[in-house]
Amino acid sequence: MDGNGRWAKKQGFFRSFGHENGTEAVREIVEACAELPVPYLTLYAFSTENWNRPKTEVQTLMRLLVSSLKKEIKTLSDHNIKLNAIGNLESLPKKAYVQLLDVMEQTKNHTHMTLTLALSYGAREEITKTIQEISHKVKNNLISPSDIDESFINNHLYTRDLPDVDLLIRTSGEQRISNFLLWQIAYAELYFTDTLWPDYRKDHLFEAILDYQNRERRFGKTSEQLNP
Ligand code: FPP
Repeated sequence: MDGNGRWAKKQGFFRSFGHENGTEAVREIVEACAELPVPYLTLYAFSTENWNRPKTEVQTLMRLLVSSLKKEIKTLSDHNIKLNAIGNLESLPKKAYVQLLDVMEQTKNHTHMTLTLALSYGAREEITKTIQEISHKVKNNLISPSDIDESFINNHLYTRDLPDVDLLIRTSGEQRISNFLLWQIAYAELYFTDTLWPDYRKDHLFEAILDYQNRERRFGKTSEQLNP
């Protein structure tokens, strides 16, 4: 969800104003996905690297997280959406952490869609943590190195309950991955748009999905193999 800061600065406002307006886009896109339906939506809300931003900006983002969670619990319930979160959640301020766990608990039996917030998330950190956990199991003779295959690794990632990414959308004209789900996007279709996140609306999402639907996902095979 990139471009909040530039959106605000373009209009002569503080960056925080962009983040506030970004929450409107979050609501619209979550509702659009619930309506389509898109069964899994993951939003990159705060990266491990974002902790290095000015303290006031980090505080604004955490405050927005708490207020959005409080405000949107009804939206999640109305659409039967389960809230999930990935990342180093314990590093979040206590208020945000408690509110997050509370909404996750309240929505845990919802089945229509899973909305995952990536919070204090970094793919390298996730992979490092996974390697540490698996190494401990080997060291304690719980498993042998030959037990480690792709699905074993998958089952140790934060995303163990989620499918691989099909479509990755990055807003604001940047064409980078920025440490997002590096393992899980191995075969994702990438979609970049110049639209800044606070301006991102349903029609932009539909455009991205239409583009995705016209791609041929070969997963290493040839076109002839897929269309004999
Ligand atoms: C990147 O834009 C955006 C973020 C670091 C924060 C995203 C957060 C929200 C949309 C609001 C809160 C989210 C939830 C789920 C309640 P940027 O600030 O890097 O923009 P720039 O590249 O223009 O500076």
